[in-house]
Amino acid sequence: MPTALVTGGAGYIGSHTCVVLLEAGWDVVVVDNLSNSSEIALARVRELAPSGSLSFHRVDLLDEPGLEAAFAEGPVDAVVHFAGLKAVGESVEQPLRYYENNVAGTVQLLKAMQRHGVRDLVFSSSCTVYGDPEEIPVTESAPLGAANPYGRTKLYIEEMLRDVAASEPGWRMTLLRYFNPVGAHPSGRIGEDPTGIPNNLMPYVMQVAVGRRDHVTIHGGDYPTPDGTGVRDYIHVVDLAAGHLAALQALDHIDGAVPVNLGTGNGYSVLDVVRAASAAVGREIRYEIGPRRPGDVAAVWADPRSARELLGWTASRSLDDMVADHWRWQASNPDGFGSATLAG
Ligand code: NAD
Ligand code: UD1
Repeated sequence: MPTALVTGGAGYIGSHTCVVLLEAGWDVVVVDNLSNSSEIALARVRELAPSGSLSFHRVDLLDEPGLEAAFAEGPVDAVVHFAGLKAVGESVEQPLRYYENNVAGTVQLLKAMQRHGVRDLVFSSSCTVYGDPEEIPVTESAPLGAANPYGRTKLYIEEMLRDVAASEPGWRMTLLRYFNPVGAHPSGRIGEDPTGIPNNLMPYVMQVAVGRRDHVTIHGGDYPTPDGTGVRDYIHVVDLAAGHLAALQALDHIDGAVPVNLGTGNGYSVLDVVRAASAAVGREIRYEIGPRRPGDVAAVWADPRSARELLGWTASRSLDDMVADHWRWQASNPDGFGSATLAG
């Protein structure tokens, strides 16, 4: 069995990817400091993929001996690197924490990979590296320029990965630029569990649906879009997880550091999402139109052709699947992993 070391494997996208990797016959070694996740997610990953082998190291990427111990469990064939902080607003307030955790953490990870002769990497980048794109759909060759410290950590890590790949032969890296991940595993057992008030649309909508919040405030109704609200490329997290497996399987054809968009190629407005969620939940989700949110762009969606050509991957789940699965998770876990125990 090949072995993947998955950093951030207890998190939202990481946990779904662990299930897909285990189901595909990979052994998984998770490295996560649980700064934004729960070990319960990993217990449920094991429950969803019982025949797989998953081990867990509660380790910070900046903890060199801890990281060594995780690599020593190998041999590790490839690394899937999710670990990072991701809140845009927080990154503006605490930029050094973001640069240290995300950029310095990745430096430590790459050094450990070098020490252990591991040259295969799948990295979580983001469509945020395109800033406010001049053309949509966005292709991988679009100009790069992030608008906030979080986005710049992704941009700088991408540059660093290109430098490392150029410095010696043998590196095979896929830089996956995700669009807007939403949804949950169809079992309802794992899903997104944001701390505090969600910044992102889908978790907010679902917390209104479950009664934790009163209404959704739509950030701007006067954009130059068909209904005036912002348009994004929402992608089901299980499709995204499958994209990571496809990226690992395609590394044989990768040379150096190659960016690949992971999106559906479809744009949906905020109102489309609220309406689809209302239909899935079976009652109206209250909303009000408020002012635009600073830093938001009107519309962005992916050109997903590279993923199809390089990885043989396309997203298959619809917006209705995304809201139905997200709702199943939210309805059966109204407090996320908060009230669950490791036993159940
Ligand atoms: P998440 O917060 O749920 O998962 C990240 C995981 O990394 C968490 O379990 C956290 O505890 C862990 N972690 C953070 N810093 C660490 C460190 N120094 N050492 C060890 N573990 C650490 O986030 P997610 O939504 O699953 O995102 C995964 C990756 O994808 C992140 O790098 C994020 O920036 C990127 N991404 C996410 C989105 C999104 O909307 N969710 C979009 C584009 C890119
Ligand atoms: C945000 C981040 C981006 C990150 C992405 C991850 C910002 C500026 N950008 O992108 O860096 O990669 O999440 O998915 O934070 N909306 C509402 N009401 C809400 C929340 C959101 O109307 O309560 C709208 C937004 O204005 C936007 C859409 O919903 O039009 C999606 O918002 P969100 O889920 O926050 O994602 P992005 O802004 O695309």
